[in-house]
Amino acid sequence: MKVDGKPFRSIWLEPDGWSVAAIDQRRLPHEFIVARMTDVEAAADAISTMLVRGAPLIGATAAYGVALAMRTDGSDAALDRAYEVLIATRPTAINLKWALDEMRRALAPLQPAARGAAAYARAGEIAEQDVAINRQIAQHGIALIEAALAKKQPGEPVNILTHCNAGWLATVDWGTATAPIYLAHDRSLAVHVWVDETRPRNQGASLTAWELGHHGVPHTVIADNTGGHLMQHGMVDLAIVGTDRVTANGDVCNKIGTYLKALAAHDNGVPFYVALPSPTIDFTVDDGVRQIPIEQRAADEVATMTGRTADGRIETVRVVPAGSPVANYAFDVTPSRLVTALITERGVLKADRTALGRAFPERIASR
Ligand code: MRU
Repeated sequence: MKVDGKPFRSIWLEPDGWSVAAIDQRRLPHEFIVARMTDVEAAADAISTMLVRGAPLIGATAAYGVALAMRTDGSDAALDRAYEVLIATRPTAINLKWALDEMRRALAPLQPAARGAAAYARAGEIAEQDVAINRQIAQHGIALIEAALAKKQPGEPVNILTHCNAGWLATVDWGTATAPIYLAHDRSLAVHVWVDETRPRNQGASLTAWELGHHGVPHTVIADNTGGHLMQHGMVDLAIVGTDRVTANGDVCNKIGTYLKALAAHDNGVPFYVALPSPTIDFTVDDGVRQIPIEQRAADEVATMTGRTADGRIETVRVVPAGSPVANYAFDVTPSRLVTALITERGVLKADRTALGRAFPERIASR
C-alpha cells in the first residue's frame, strides 16, 4: 500500500540483505518512523512493545527474528533459544506459534551452517505468502460488498464497520478485513468505513484511519460505543473484522470489544464477517472462550492517552484518577454462532468445524 504515493510494506529486508526494517506503529499517526532490527532480541522487543502488531505481522516478524538468530549462530541451541524468546512475546495471536513452527520445521533437518540462508528464505516466503493470501481474501470478500451495494440506492455507499486494525499494517500488505475494502475502492465501488477507535491503544483511530486516509478510502472514526447505535439506525450494512485466532469450531478471538459489536450486529440483523488467513486457525482448540489465552497488558494503556498537542508535541496524559485499579484485557472471543461467515483465502466459509475442515484438510492432518 502507498504512503504519500510511495509503496510500502509493514516489514521488509533491508538492501544489506540481512537486517530487517518495519514501520514503528507506536508512533503513528503522528510520526512515520522506520525501525531496524539486527538481532532476535530486537525482533522480540518489537513484538512485545507493539512496534509491530497484528496477528499476521507478528508471525512474519517472528520468522525474520529466527533468521536474525540463525545468521550468527545456526546451532540447535540457538534455534531453540530463538523459538523460546519469540514465543514468549505475546500469547493470543496463534500466527506467532504457526510461524515459529514453520521455521523450526524448515531448519531443524539442516546442518547448522545451512540454516542462516534457509531461515531468510523461509521467512521471505512466509511474508510473501501473507500478501498472496490477503489478495485472495480481497477477491472473495469483494463479492459480499458488491451484494450489499446492489441493495443500496444509486450513489449511496456501502457502510462497513471495522474494529481495531486488521489493515495492511497488521499484515505484510493489504490487510485482512481491509483487503476487500481496498479492492472495492480501487474498483470504484462506493464504500465508507466506520472505524472503531479501539481503546485502549486506539489501533482504529491511529492506524486504520491513517491507512484508509492515505489510500483515499472514505471513512469516519467513531467512539467504541457507537456501533450499536449506528446499527439500530440502518447505518451499517456489514461489519468486517480481523482475528488473532479462530478455533476449529469457528469461534473468533479478536481485539477487546469485538464481541460486543457481534452482539449488536446479531440483534440488528447486520452481517458480521471475519477475515482471516489460514495460519490464524488453531485446529488444536475447540472452545474459544475457555481455551484461548487472553493477553492482559499494562494498566497504563487504559489509564493514559497519548496524542499530539496543538503546538505539535506528542504528550501522554492520565485520564484515570491516580490510585484507581485498572484492568486491561486485550482480546475477547466471539462465539461462532454470532459470525455470519469467515472470509478466507479459500472462499467465504460458514464458521463451523465442517466448513473449516473441508477447506483446510491439510491443517487438520498436521495438527
Ligand atoms: O493487539 P493487536 O493490535 O496486535 O491486535 C490486533 C487485532 O486484534 C487485529 O484485529 C487482528 O490481529 C487481526 S490482524 C489482521
